[in-house]
Amino acid sequence: MGSVIAGTGMYVPDNVVTNHDLARIMDTSDEWITTRTGVKERRFADRGVGASDLAIEASHRALDAAGVGPSEVDVVVTATMTPDYMAPGIAGLVQEGLGLGHIAAFDLRQQCSGFLYGLDLADSLLTSARGEVALVVGAEVHAGFQPWSEASWQAVLGDGGSEIPREDYERNSRYRSWSVIFGDGAGAMVLRKSDNDVEGVLASSLHTDGASFELIMVPGVGSKSRPYVSSEQIEADTHLPVMDGGGLYRRAVRLMPEAARAVATKAGISLEDIDLIVAHQANDRITEGVRRQFKMDPQKVPSNIGGYGNTTAGTLPILFHELREAGRVNPGSLICFAAFGAGAHYGALLYREPASP
Ligand code: ACO
Repeated sequence: MGSVIAGTGMYVPDNVVTNHDLARIMDTSDEWITTRTGVKERRFADRGVGASDLAIEASHRALDAAGVGPSEVDVVVTATMTPDYMAPGIAGLVQEGLGLGHIAAFDLRQQCSGFLYGLDLADSLLTSARGEVALVVGAEVHAGFQPWSEASWQAVLGDGGSEIPREDYERNSRYRSWSVIFGDGAGAMVLRKSDNDVEGVLASSLHTDGASFELIMVPGVGSKSRPYVSSEQIEADTHLPVMDGGGLYRRAVRLMPEAARAVATKAGISLEDIDLIVAHQANDRITEGVRRQFKMDPQKVPSNIGGYGNTTAGTLPILFHELREAGRVNPGSLICFAAFGAGAHYGALLYREPASP
């Protein structure tokens, strides 16, 4: 008894920032970013636009695609690491913005695995008779994490003509290892309860390795500080992410395939039967490492990071939506969703596209 995906949708902001744009504000190059990460360009939301705004747009599109009206949704699950406000999360804003009525609305904080966890939670709720229709949405606005000054933003979003101060260039360069990777975007899926136990969500294998918590995190700003945010923290830049890129790479290429094997065993299927692995797009080197581990046709582990960067919780639904639109998801297709992200949360989920719509 797995839930089926009745509709998908995505939304990315209009502002496109290319690697060449970034090379104007920091010591980097299109060549370095492309070869090390696969990212060519990313989108950034306008000031004043939060993750909930992107989530609402993507959700409208998924609801339209599913032919589902707001009053038919029984539960909504939102996933983001960049909520509009420190608290509460975005679930209430999405529920109200879509006019879903006073249904249960969950906020998940599993970063790059947020959508995967959301899919599993929504499926569990539907299969345990908590409702017929669930909306799952992952959305990120990483623009706020960028350490860039107003002049830097104008240089990447404007006509590119303006020079930025030397100290801005140096500061931007200090954070280049992670700042070039991320982008903004949202993706959503509408899930419908199904009584067919050979299609829809078949099995999941979700895990957390808390010992890897510090591999990527925002060290300042939180309940361990008094006050939770201070000018000293801002001065020391502890409100910005810190990342151990090598450590993340080594764990992601080992643990995503491990979770995929575990879920295949659980469902009693062979890895060769999988048509597509929809893997989190942290960077193309990780995706390439996952392909090597599986020794499968690279086409089966697609990448779209070139156009969006790492959109964290938005990544899996955006990639799946694009694959569906491109005709790569066919009736009966067996899909494995896999993710690894901060926390460190990771896992895999198997899904069989229904034989008939
Ligand atoms: N442009 C130019 N040079 C750069 C950049 C940049 N954007 N970033 C780092 N460099 C330089 C470094 O300063 C260093 O220079 P040095 O040798 O003179 O000291 C050199 O490039 C190599 O730096 P490394 O950090 O060793 O680069 P590496 O080859 O490890 O690649 C990367 C960095 C791409 C981040 C890699 O570690 C990686 O793929 N890690 C995975 C982490 C990841 O994907 N995080 C995404 C979010 S987490 C998640 O979603 C799970």
